[in-house]
Amino acid sequence: MDRIGLFYSFRSHKTSKIAEKIAGQLGTDLVEAVDAETIAENDFLRFNRMILGVPTWFDGELPNYWDEFVPALRELDLSGKKAAIFGLADQVGYPENFGDAVGIMARLLQSCRAEVVGHTSSEGYTFEGSKALYDNKFLGLILDQENQARLTAERILQWTEQLKKEF
Ligand SMILES: Cc1cc2nc3c(=O)[nH]c(=O)nc-3n(C[C@H](O)[C@H](O)[C@H](O)COP(=O)(O)O)c2cc1C
Repeated sequence: MDRIGLFYSFRSHKTSKIAEKIAGQLGTDLVEAVDAETIAENDFLRFNRMILGVPTWFDGELPNYWDEFVPALRELDLSGKKAAIFGLADQVGYPENFGDAVGIMARLLQSCRAEVVGHTSSEGYTFEGSKALYDNKFLGLILDQENQARLTAERILQWTEQLKKEF
């Protein structure tokens, strides 16, 4: 099986810890970590399966390091590739923009013709609005370390088992 590209900011606090847990569940030999802070087009194109760590920042926006890559990303043809997104978010602090960045990134990847897998149930979260929602499900995995840290390990386990089937 070809390797899975795991993209996240190596400088991020919470996202990088979660990414390491996800890699551990999938098998570190199967996963290649790539720093989203220094990403280039070719990093995307050399993987057929990728996982992106995309926390929400700035009241419903992508963090800077992802935002800077968006113009280049828009030009890519990701046909035949599968992508899954996880995102840290805060449902109490930002209930109207809960995990928005997951939805922003999912739609960007879809517009580049990637297939976005790893959708999850929105049950068990309390919020008012989220761009990550589609058909009542999240377009990726949303983790809330501020308010629901004790649910994170189980959510990661369920999601990685799901990805093993969907990838
Ligand atoms: C300035 C700032 C803005 C944020 N905006 C949002 C937001 O709009 N929606 C949300 O769900 N979480 C928001 N958050 C919460 C972050 O997503 C959360 O703290 C996350 O764990 C950050 O992950 P990181 O440290 O790996 O970047 C915000 C956090 C900060 C500090």
